[in-house]
Amino acid sequence: MSATNNNQAGARVLSGMRPTGKLHLGNYMGALRNWVSLQDETVAGGGRKYECYYFIADLHALTTEYADPSGVPESTLQVALDYLAAGLDPEQATIFVQSDVLQHAELALLLGMFTPLSWLERVPTYKEQQEQLSQKDLNTYGFLGYPLLMAADILVYRPQYVPVGQDQMAHVELTREVARKFNSHYGKGEDVLPEPKVLVTASPKLPGTDGRKMSKSYGNTILLSEPEAEMRAKLKTMVTDPARKRRTDAGNPEVCPVGDLHKVFSTEETRAKVWEGCKTAGIGCIECKGWAADGIAAVLAPIQERRRGFEENPALVREILSAGEAKARTTAAATMAAVHDAMCLRVKSL
Ligand code: TRP
Ligand code: SF4
Repeated sequence: MSATNNNQAGARVLSGMRPTGKLHLGNYMGALRNWVSLQDETVAGGGRKYECYYFIADLHALTTEYADPSGVPESTLQVALDYLAAGLDPEQATIFVQSDVLQHAELALLLGMFTPLSWLERVPTYKEQQEQLSQKDLNTYGFLGYPLLMAADILVYRPQYVPVGQDQMAHVELTREVARKFNSHYGKGEDVLPEPKVLVTASPKLPGTDGRKMSKSYGNTILLSEPEAEMRAKLKTMVTDPARKRRTDAGNPEVCPVGDLHKVFSTEETRAKVWEGCKTAGIGCIECKGWAADGIAAVLAPIQERRRGFEENPALVREILSAGEAKARTTAAATMAAVHDAMCLRVKSL
């Protein structure tokens, strides 16, 4: 490990999410749940805990919400509540808001000096998102720079691991390329910005109420903060195996989205009952969905109980984010000192 890396333990973790509203079960199963386990785990062989940094990427939200950013602060607060509700523990992890730590923006600017435009233009999410969000004008410098700001978010903490969902892999790969170019060009033989590794969350197939992948943009989500009655009502409308038109038709849980939910949330006993009952038309879909809802409710109950505790104490949430900000800034400032040296900034040091 290089002498300029201030993390000698070699086990720092960093990740973040964009505040586009309250988080849903897909965000939890696909990333957040993994963040919580990393915070509790000890590093293999080392006996030490991972040093975890988890932030809310409000600057990234502005890349798509710039025309009307008025909802971003409330979303940021809701995501902070969802993080804490899901079990991120401010005693163990540094939890903060991206725009509070100016070093993210500064490093993004500096990385932009040498990053070829073509690297950004070929990131697959660039064209995909422009097409998907065609009602928004995303022909902006900020939107093209999305992955570079993300590279800065990561590299400014010099983490070893970045736990993200599959959809973010291309961004972490770009981050590695940018780090490599920085080190070879400015590092004088040192890894000033070590290349982080992606930790892809093994995420189960999680359908939303319409049977497609659960995603905010499809409007088919179940929120982590969804009241139980509403969660149950949503499940009642969920699509099922189309072969099972009538109660007397047999179905197949392997092709039914509700079957996928049972795979994730139900006990083995319930699953056996569903597989047998569905295939023999021995159970009805309403009954089956009720059991899936029981499994989801068991996951949501402790999350929502923790959320209520934090909702009742907004001063505490503010305090947690301020403490996170201070700690994050200290780490980020140390990296920036090395970056300034490498890029020949700060005439005062002459
Ligand atoms: N792009 C990520 C997403 O949409 C959010 C993000 C921004 C992020 N900066 C990051 C994730 C740095 C990991 C590390 O989910
Ligand atoms: Fe799907 Fe359950 Fe109905 Fe079978 S019984 S089709 S698994 S909802």
